[in-house]
Amino acid sequence: MPASIGVSLLGAGNVGSAVLSALIKDFERNKQLIGAKLELKHVLVRDIKKHQKKFKDVNFTNNFNDVLNDQDTLIVIELLGGQDPAKDYIAALLKAGKHIVTANKEVMAQSGSELTNLAVKHGTSIRYEASVGGGIPIIGPLSRDLLANEIFSISGIINGTTNYMLSLMHQEKMSYKDALLKAQKLGYAEPDPRNDVQGIDAAYKLAILCGLAFHVDIDPASIFCQGISEIQLKDLNYADELGYVIKLLARAELINNEITCIVCPTLIAKKEPLSKVDGVLNAIQLQGNLVGQVIFEGPGAGAFPTSSAILGDVIDAAKNIKNSFSNISNTQLNKIEVSNSENFISRYYLRLNVVDEPGVLAAISGIMSEHQISIASVIQTESDQESQTAQLVLITHKASRGKIDSVINAINKEKKVDSVVNLLPIID
Ligand code: HSE
Repeated sequence: MPASIGVSLLGAGNVGSAVLSALIKDFERNKQLIGAKLELKHVLVRDIKKHQKKFKDVNFTNNFNDVLNDQDTLIVIELLGGQDPAKDYIAALLKAGKHIVTANKEVMAQSGSELTNLAVKHGTSIRYEASVGGGIPIIGPLSRDLLANEIFSISGIINGTTNYMLSLMHQEKMSYKDALLKAQKLGYAEPDPRNDVQGIDAAYKLAILCGLAFHVDIDPASIFCQGISEIQLKDLNYADELGYVIKLLARAELINNEITCIVCPTLIAKKEPLSKVDGVLNAIQLQGNLVGQVIFEGPGAGAFPTSSAILGDVIDAAKNIKNSFSNISNTQLNKIEVSNSENFISRYYLRLNVVDEPGVLAAISGIMSEHQISIASVIQTESDQESQTAQLVLITHKASRGKIDSVINAINKEKKVDSVVNLLPIID
């Protein structure tokens, strides 16, 4: 049993600094928990001087080989983010027999199986609790405690930035633009917010969850992905009037040996627990054949919650170094196809701008009926005098996304329809 276990870090940004502080502060506590000292070895950064000011006794380097070739470093925490060079670094470190703890959702969504297999081949491990849901324990439960279940569905609010923005828009009647500016000012949204607002971040996280829940590789690029940038205050107000809130929801359902994965703004009935998850909180709801429904909720981002997940993995890895190594693997049990999003069945919310003249409603309901889509309710507002258009909000009964898309095509061709402003699925 080693008396001390060397730990190195790749990256010392916001989360990395919180991890460093906690590693230094909780040295004694960790020693007792593990039964061996965690010894901080190297921290890879670009600007050594900048970091040295804050952490005087830490050994910063800008040379990756210092970490790779250090025989005493047994665990490496990867916090660089993105694909390059993070994936290559992780692969090289695993080949060198080092254990990896990472928060990198992009790498784990795109290359999780490859890296896990590499870890197994080299008798080491890769842990990634912080890659989904920030501080919420979800990778551990899916890969251990819920393993006996066949999971049928995952529904998650797994992007804190967009959840914060939609909450602001709903509660403070703020426009999309203002909500984005405020999220950027508070550091929740990046200066380039596309990964969050376009749903890409959530698609990576959904792919990771699917790998563990359904024991299958899901290419994140195959996930139908619609962001929140087209959501207007009007949509939130209509949804509210109808008894719903709008959330960016990541969903995966296993039906007849096919998985449908979708990330899109969704109307959630106010009675549903997920509708009450506001601000930067995340929540993940799972349905399993044995456990039934479980919900995991908590802080989905932020330096300290994320460092909680990272350090939990570090301590677990260190404890295992003394004995055998356990990988969090998404064993490829199943040959499940990812279903085309056309098969995704839901009730839908449609908001249209229509010319305010006789026969419009009849024309639209005619088109809906031709496509065998049944209307559940309708709201029409008084027309806007300037544009001479009215807003029409339709709620449909259950239909497949494919059928809804063909009805939208037909409605778009209807002269009396100015535009189809929004189309969103509903959970109730
Ligand atoms: N951008 C992410 C979010 C951070 O907003 O949830 C955590 O992955």
